[in-house]
Amino acid sequence: MGRASVCATFDVPMQVPARHRVTFTRDVFDPGNPALAQALSGSARCIAFVDDGVAEAHPQLAVALGRSLAARPGMPELCGVERVPGGERAKAGMDVPDRVVRATVDHRIDRQSCVIAIGGGAVLDAVGFGAAIAHRGCRLVRLPTTVLSQDDAGMAVKNGINLGRRKNYVGTFAVPHAVICDEAFLESTPEWSWIGGFSEAVKIALLRDPALLAHIERDAAAIRARDMHAAMTVIVRSAELHWRHIALGGDPFETQSARPLDHGHWLAHRLEGLTDGALPHGQAVAIGIAVDTAYAANAGMLAPAEADRVMSVLRALSLPTSHPLLSDPDALVAGLEEFREHLGGRLTITLLRAVGDPVDVHELDERLLRGAIASLAG
Ligand SMILES: NC(=O)c1ccc[n+]([C@@H]2O[C@H](COP(=O)([O-])OP(=O)(O)OC[C@H]3O[C@@H](n4cnc5c(N)ncnc54)[C@H](O)[C@@H]3O)[C@@H](O)[C@H]2O)c1
Ligand SMILES: [Zn+2]
Repeated sequence: MGRASVCATFDVPMQVPARHRVTFTRDVFDPGNPALAQALSGSARCIAFVDDGVAEAHPQLAVALGRSLAARPGMPELCGVERVPGGERAKAGMDVPDRVVRATVDHRIDRQSCVIAIGGGAVLDAVGFGAAIAHRGCRLVRLPTTVLSQDDAGMAVKNGINLGRRKNYVGTFAVPHAVICDEAFLESTPEWSWIGGFSEAVKIALLRDPALLAHIERDAAAIRARDMHAAMTVIVRSAELHWRHIALGGDPFETQSARPLDHGHWLAHRLEGLTDGALPHGQAVAIGIAVDTAYAANAGMLAPAEADRVMSVLRALSLPTSHPLLSDPDALVAGLEEFREHLGGRLTITLLRAVGDPVDVHELDERLLRGAIASLAG
């Protein structure tokens, strides 16, 4: 007789407690504004990393941040304000996360101290990755500075950098300590960035909120003209819908292969890859939505009048619905398999049956897809 082995299985559902705090405000560094103080309270030290595009447009930012902390009792010591490259350059390898990790060592930023990331979605992703791996997670306070990062990316509970052409291949899921969206930053964003960010608001309106779509349709001209009230109404609602899905939708760390908010994204990812990032994410999403809409209409899922409505709202915002690469359908159709790999399971594409009525499909008819692409080419 052999010795009895000691076997045991432990299997209990586990919940990780977290809060996802998001504030929309204006003039965050005004000493009378409580948002930053609330986010930083309880931290002894902090260090800030600023997108260089933001630093150029707001040369007084470091001084204003320092003054804002000095003006209030009990605020953390500001150990430094460092510039990092803005846009996809921030995510082109480990440079930015390495700098964040090294700074946490040099300035004794512990797990109760804060890393403050100020910038567009790319800088938030790269700095956030560094903050997530230093000490296995320091507090990250995000200040998103573009439309896209305020109406979508800043609400995310993930971060990452690119591995060559593989976007966001290296990263972690991590809930930020706080997110503060200051509308004043949006005033200095370049035109393409301003408009591009609204494609994510159109996307979520199509999926979840017909009233938001009607609002965008009504205010498209005002949004294009940078009317801040019209824009912020849409941005805050879009952020709330993204936030609700992430915080309350039951799959914050994306363990399922369905990505209900990735409407239009299979093609967007492909176009961004094929253009080596020259086509910004927001514009790529608009083209992706247009192609998925044309497909759903060709497949008889979506009424032609609804499809026309989608195309019209994109055009009313000056978002693109076409691209020279649409004349190369072979290159685009290959994006479906790439997207399946990205989801890590069964291909799941979210299409529309009507505004506010999405449906997941697991394959696309290639003939109809090629027809949809051709109908928008040129
Ligand atoms: N973590 C997520 O879940 C998530 C979700 C969506 C998108 N993203 C990522 O977000 C990135 C796109 O972010 P984005 O659209 O915010 O653009 P971006 O971060 O690429 O920034 C675009 C440009 O705008 C500049 N800029 C930023 N704010 C500015 C300001 N206030 N004034 C002047 N210039 C400013 C930057 O320097 C940069 O040159 C992509 O890398 C994408 O993968 C992440
Ligand atoms: Zn997106």
